[in-house]
Amino acid sequence: MTRLTRRYRFSASHRLHTASLTEEGNRELYGKCNYPYGHGHNYELEVSVRGNVDPSSGMLVRVEDLDKLVAGRVIRDMDHRDLNGDVVEFARLVPTTENLAEVVRSRLKAAWAGTFGASGVELDGIRIRETGKNIVELRS
Ligand code: NI
Repeated sequence: MTRLTRRYRFSASHRLHTASLTEEGNRELYGKCNYPYGHGHNYELEVSVRGNVDPSSGMLVRVEDLDKLVAGRVIRDMDHRDLNGDVVEFARLVPTTENLAEVVRSRLKAAWAGTFGASGVELDGIRIRETGKNIVELRS
């Protein structure tokens, strides 16, 4: 089994706020991240795939195929967007990095078979770095 990881970047703004808490409760829970007008991050997304190297090409995947999938399903909808207002999944979901990682993973999985279905290559996991101090990782 071989694992390949590819790195992407996108910038987006968000506001951490939940309807299940009062204004004061939100401020207490999320602190600065509850600031009413939002704030931005330069996110770094790593997508890892696993499978067997194709002996004839010597490659696990064509990285262009992975790039196209990530661009079409994630980057296009999220880069330079407001996650709360522009990304449909966050209409009712707080755009924490944990939830962002779940959304990215489920978007990639939903389209996976269309790109890699025949090859046996699987999504191994994703990692999102929100800040220099904050990284969320999901294993698939
Ligand atoms: Ni933030």
